[in-house]
Amino acid sequence: MADKKEMLDRWPFEREVPSLPPQEYARRREQCPISKVRMWDGSEAWLLTRYADIRKAFRDTRLSSDSSVDHFPAPNEAIAMARKVQRDFTRLDSEPHSRQRNLLAKYFTITHVNTMREIIEKKVEELLDEMEAKGGPLDLVENLALPLPIFLTCVLLNLPTDDTPYLLNRVVAWMNSDSTPDESAKGADDIIVYFAKVIEREKAQRSEGMVAELVHEHVANGHITEDELLWMLHLLLVGGFDTAAIMISLGTFNAVEASGGSRKAAGKSVPGEFGRGGAAAHA
Ligand code: HEM
Repeated sequence: MADKKEMLDRWPFEREVPSLPPQEYARRREQCPISKVRMWDGSEAWLLTRYADIRKAFRDTRLSSDSSVDHFPAPNEAIAMARKVQRDFTRLDSEPHSRQRNLLAKYFTITHVNTMREIIEKKVEELLDEMEAKGGPLDLVENLALPLPIFLTCVLLNLPTDDTPYLLNRVVAWMNSDSTPDESAKGADDIIVYFAKVIEREKAQRSEGMVAELVHEHVANGHITEDELLWMLHLLLVGGFDTAAIMISLGTFNAVEASGGSRKAAGKSVPGEFGRGGAAAHA
């Protein structure tokens, strides 16, 4: 008789249509909304597919977000390794999580985000103009979906926009599901080293914006440690990157399809590996 363990489906599920979630989620939502799956390392994890159950689980203090524990679910080895050492507040529970999260709340209000609207719209125009000048067919991911979120992060954190190529290169190494665990770990390390320098620079010479306020008002007054800030900046870079990149690429792809356009029009790598790996990394 087959081992019961071997009968569990492997997660992440394969996508039937690259731009849409695997149908297995909908099937389970209907037939077994709380079920088990098999992870890359053979361990088992619970999969919740209904909004109400997920909300309930997030509020259940018996569950933890601490990804440093053995067999914390991850979609592949590279992400499992990264999460073992990741110390940003999404990987922490209760007080350290809410204390750090609250410090960021004011930067994510509609009013504050609207202050960035003009500069982001200008960047979008610029990237679209560059695409038009190059002529088609073009890869939407390379030309718009990747450079825009990195630019956005630089604006949000008041980082030199000249740093965008380096940050893009390192964050892709960290998140791409094709990266080996070593390549991915090196990408994450380089980002930490980069932000350690940003903090040192800020301590030496006060500038403006989010990093300046976090260093001079919150680290200086003991609301947050320097190590917590380092990981918070790491989170802001990687958390805002793949999510936005995927929404731009898949959103465009689905819009083009819905309007009867061809897949090619949306860019050859839109439904490709980057989207899948990125989505899994942030989830
Ligand atoms: C379309 C774009 C985005 C999507 C779909 C998205 C999605 C999500 C999701 C699903 C979570 C919860 C993850 C979890 O608890 O494990 C999350 C958390 C978070 N996201 Fe985003 N995100 C987007 C853009 C951004 C951007 C641009 C930033 C910042 C630059 C950002 C920063 C964060 C932070 C700091 C958290 C942690 C909040 C907490 O733990 O309390 N996100 N995001």
